[in-house]
Amino acid sequence: MTGKHLAAILPQKGGPLSVEERSTPEPGPNEVLIEVKAVALNPVDYYQRDHGFPPVPIYPAVIGSDVAGIIAKVGSNVTTAPAPGSRAIALATSFYFNGSPDHGAFQKYVLAQSEAVIALPDALSFEEGAVFPLAVMTALTAWTTVGIPLDTKYTPQDKQAVLIWGAASSVGTFAVQSAKSLGFTTYATASPKHHDYLKKLGAHAVFDYNTSDVVSQIVDAVKQDGVKLHTAHCVVTGGLQPTLDVLRETKGNAAAKVAHSPVLPPDHPTLDNTEITFNFPSMDKAIRDKHMYQCFHGWLQDGLKSGSVVPSPSIQVEDGGLEGLNPALDKLRAGVSGTKIVVPI
Ligand SMILES: NC(=O)c1ccc[n+]([C@@H]2O[C@H](COP(=O)([O-])OP(=O)(O)OC[C@H]3O[C@@H](n4cnc5c(N)ncnc54)[C@H](OP(=O)(O)O)[C@@H]3O)[C@@H](O)[C@H]2O)c1
Repeated sequence: MTGKHLAAILPQKGGPLSVEERSTPEPGPNEVLIEVKAVALNPVDYYQRDHGFPPVPIYPAVIGSDVAGIIAKVGSNVTTAPAPGSRAIALATSFYFNGSPDHGAFQKYVLAQSEAVIALPDALSFEEGAVFPLAVMTALTAWTTVGIPLDTKYTPQDKQAVLIWGAASSVGTFAVQSAKSLGFTTYATASPKHHDYLKKLGAHAVFDYNTSDVVSQIVDAVKQDGVKLHTAHCVVTGGLQPTLDVLRETKGNAAAKVAHSPVLPPDHPTLDNTEITFNFPSMDKAIRDKHMYQCFHGWLQDGLKSGSVVPSPSIQVEDGGLEGLNPALDKLRAGVSGTKIVVPI
């Protein structure tokens, strides 16, 4: 494919994005070129637009990670991607390609590595397909961050529990769905309006993080249920202290582990015998590629086929295409509750 396509370009730190033409790239041997039909938005997108953080190594940049679209062309070594013309879900992030603008999601044609490209089932719309990539990858990476392999299958006799703080977030909903598939008994926090929904996704019990005694409510429930709670995923900013307060009471003499999805401030709270780790995929490409393959071609593809994994949270479609990305990012920055913002392209 040669030619030009439209892209929402980030010309400099501070934005705004502006729509311009770019040359359409050819896929490398292990890459897939995708015609983008919908993108989903993540907090990292407005951090990068507004603050150039996480670092944007090349300007003009093309940011964005979450894509659903149609396979336009596959690279010469690719054996796992759906055929050209097929509908697909892809994680397309320039972050892993030294900021290469050909690999950012917010454009009409994007390159993605084949490990992170799978078929979009017929039953799902492009808008539904776009919600998965970064949130799934982040939720699954949290398990390996705390040393739990993705093929773990606990049984009820194992009595293994996990705390997911911020379960109504985009990442949190996939933390709940994946906790269920690994066999955990899941204790989650969210606003009350999301409790039934999160139970349907697989949470055992959900607690309102805005109540003053939320920590003792969770501790009491864990003790009553007789499960072992020494693992947690703190998904949202502000959740680490109460997460540690729960673990202090539930871990006993066991070592505890916490995956922390927001950037960890240097002066973050700590707890004895508890490892708190920023949740991020390995920077070793071979390890990360294998992990990505397990996330997309394993957990997500298998779960979509069997119906055990569903799009989550609820989708808020914003119009305007590439031109609509600035106001859509402003809406995300203002805060969402149990919704994923998706923009058809
Ligand atoms: N490390 C990585 O690679 C990586 C990748 C992706 C995202 N992230 C980070 O992960 C975090 C979550 O991202 P996201 O896209 O999933 O966020 P999101 O969907 O925008 O999160 C919104 C949700 O956060 C919940 N929330 C806010 N404050 C809370 C608190 N104190 N306790 C419990 N819940 C709270 C709200 O819950 P209610 O509606 O119930 O009130 C709301 O539904 C962000 O900090 C993001 O930057 C990191």
